[in-house]
Amino acid sequence: MTQSAIEIEMIPMSFSIELELQKFPKTVALKDGKKATLRPLQPDDEKDFHQLFLDIPEPERMFIKHRVTDLKIIRDWCRNIDYGRNLPLVGLIGGKIVGDATLHQQLGGWKRHVGRVSVLVHPEFRGRGLARALIAEIVDIARRAGLEKVEAEFIGEQEAAIHMFAMLGFSRLLRLEDYVKDMQAISHDYILMGLDLKTDEEYASASG
Ligand SMILES: CC(C)(COP(=O)(O)OP(=O)(O)OC[C@H]1O[C@@H](n2cnc3c(N)ncnc32)[C@H](O)[C@@H]1OP(=O)(O)O)[C@@H](O)C(=O)NCCC(=O)NCCS
Repeated sequence: MTQSAIEIEMIPMSFSIELELQKFPKTVALKDGKKATLRPLQPDDEKDFHQLFLDIPEPERMFIKHRVTDLKIIRDWCRNIDYGRNLPLVGLIGGKIVGDATLHQQLGGWKRHVGRVSVLVHPEFRGRGLARALIAEIVDIARRAGLEKVEAEFIGEQEAAIHMFAMLGFSRLLRLEDYVKDMQAISHDYILMGLDLKTDEEYASASG
């Protein structure tokens, strides 16, 4: 394949992330009847987004890849937003950020057709369908962006999340024993799950 053919393949013809994000903020009804607002992370979310990570219990925070208690790291994420690379979609209840699902994309290389999804919900706001709503939006955006697959990474102990992704259609691709280390350098199994995406055109042709 020539260089220009590769570049053309990387950019879906009709997709514009700015256009796609115009549908936000979006209100969704949760299982308990309350409403949540979904929208992309904004530069002025710094403190509120940091607070979400501070509210995650320490044992669970160990499994997060980045040192999210460090305000400088969150500030850097909020001030250098590039939705084409990392799209954090936050969920707000009563004006407070209580959840996040992020679509991570590699803009070149051999995984350029695979998006990665990560998700986190505040412990007090779990079990209401917020993660499901956030992931549904992220997967929809990934599909419309022309990605062919999405994947999600876990450590073995994240059983709730693994169960949830399985319910959302993701299948287990691999498990590697004692492959990753948490922030305290303790080894854990690594699990990769994935979902094949169909484009709108494929859906249209499948339905005749
Ligand atoms: C996993 C997590 C995101 C779920 O968030 P949530 O908002 O409570 O999830 P939802 O309410 O949208 O639940 C979605 C589905 O998953 C299932 N589920 C959620 N938590 C579950 C649990 N602890 N055990 C079993 N199933 C669970 C629900 O039954 C639900 O299915 P239903 O809608 O048919 O009832 C949340 O527990 C979390 O933030 N965990 C820590 C971070 C993490 O592990 N992230 C994943 C790494 S990418």
